[in-house]
Parts: sequence; structure tokens; C-alpha cells
Amino acid sequence: FRLVVLVSGSGTNLQALLDAASDDAYGATVVAVGADRDDIEGLARAGRAGVPTFVERVGDHSTREEWDESLAERIAGHRPDLVVSAGFMKILGPRVLAAFPVVNTHPALLPSFPGAHAVRDALAYGVRVTGCTVHLVDAGVDTGPVIAQEAVPVREGDDEESLHERIKTVERGLLVEMVGRMAREGWTTTGRTVRLGTARA
Ligand code: GRF
Repeated sequence: FRLVVLVSGSGTNLQALLDAASDDAYGATVVAVGADRDDIEGLARAGRAGVPTFVERVGDHSTREEWDESLAERIAGHRPDLVVSAGFMKILGPRVLAAFPVVNTHPALLPSFPGAHAVRDALAYGVRVTGCTVHLVDAGVDTGPVIAQEAVPVREGDDEESLHERIKTVERGLLVEMVGRMAREGWTTTGRTVRLGTARA
């Protein structure tokens, strides 16, 4: 079961997938890592694991559509069964979404706090509980069907970094668990419901 993982930053979620995939029993391998920018730790992590990488910068293309098409072609070259967006900070376009199933991990309990500043927004709101969401990606921003969620408490004195770090320790485990189950068991989506395990014949 072939995974292409998309990253934009430190890549600790990617690292968790790379570590899990090193055990054959996990049932999935990371065949390539894609990014929207160079010189990020996520690409270095892939390099250290001997996993091929590619970079598709929006700025290298005259239009967003061209970037979308080029990204779809780069991903297709690795023949993924599933694309995992793990801290990828661009909205994926219709060509990518039409070509592959994509799973995303988000550091909040969607539909609360969608978008690129989920942890900051949760802190600013003053919630006592936040968490992380693993979901299928649809054309919206963090709006796809939920696969799994886990709550994380906000603590006195938390700042964005301390809270995000606490979320990420939970998030990495949830992402690894759900991607592994999707690889081993398959999944079906009916409306907004994602069921693991292949549909009963
Ligand atoms: C994760 O919390 C992800 O949900 C969010 O950005 C963070 C990426 O962390 N979109 P990393 O790059 O996997 O360390």
C-alpha cells in the first residue's frame, strides 16, 4: 500500500509515518514525500529515510491551476494508493483531489477552528479542550468527512507552542493508527461517514 506524504514544515507527522512504515506489519510504505517549498526539515527527514522527494512551488507556476496540474502529475508518478497531507500548508486543487484519495491531519476538533491557525485560534477563544482531527480532504478548507478525532486538554499558561506540541503528540499517533488501518482494512465513504474495512459484498 503506497503512500505519498505532503509536507510544508518540520515533518514530525511524516517522521511518525516513516517510523511506523519501517515495520512490514504496518501494511503501508512511504514511497515519496512532496513539499511546496525547499529547505524544510520534512524533506531532510525523507532524505535520511532514503525516500524520494519532490518540490512543487506555487510561485514557480503562472497560475494556481498549473500548480495543481503539475502537483497531480508529480504525485501520480509515484502511483500512490493514498496521499497524506501532514502539515501541508496549501489548499489542494481539484486535479489532485480528482486523482487520489487524500487524508489530512488538523490540530483542532473540526469543525471548530479550521484553517492555518487552528491552535492560535483555539487559545484565543479560550477553549478548555481542543484536539486533532484526521479527515478525508474535499474541495473545502478542512471540511472533508471525519475519520477520527482525539481530545487534548488546554492547560494553564499554555501558549501556541506548548499547546500545539501537546496536540502533536496525540495527532501523530492518531494519524499513524488511521492510515495503517486504511491500508490494511480499506475504507468506504458514504456521505460524511467514513467506515473502515471494505464494504460487505
Ligand atoms: C500539524 O499539527 C498539522 O496538523 C498542522 O501542522 C502541523 C505539522 O506538523 N497542519 P509537522 O510538520 O508534522 O511537525
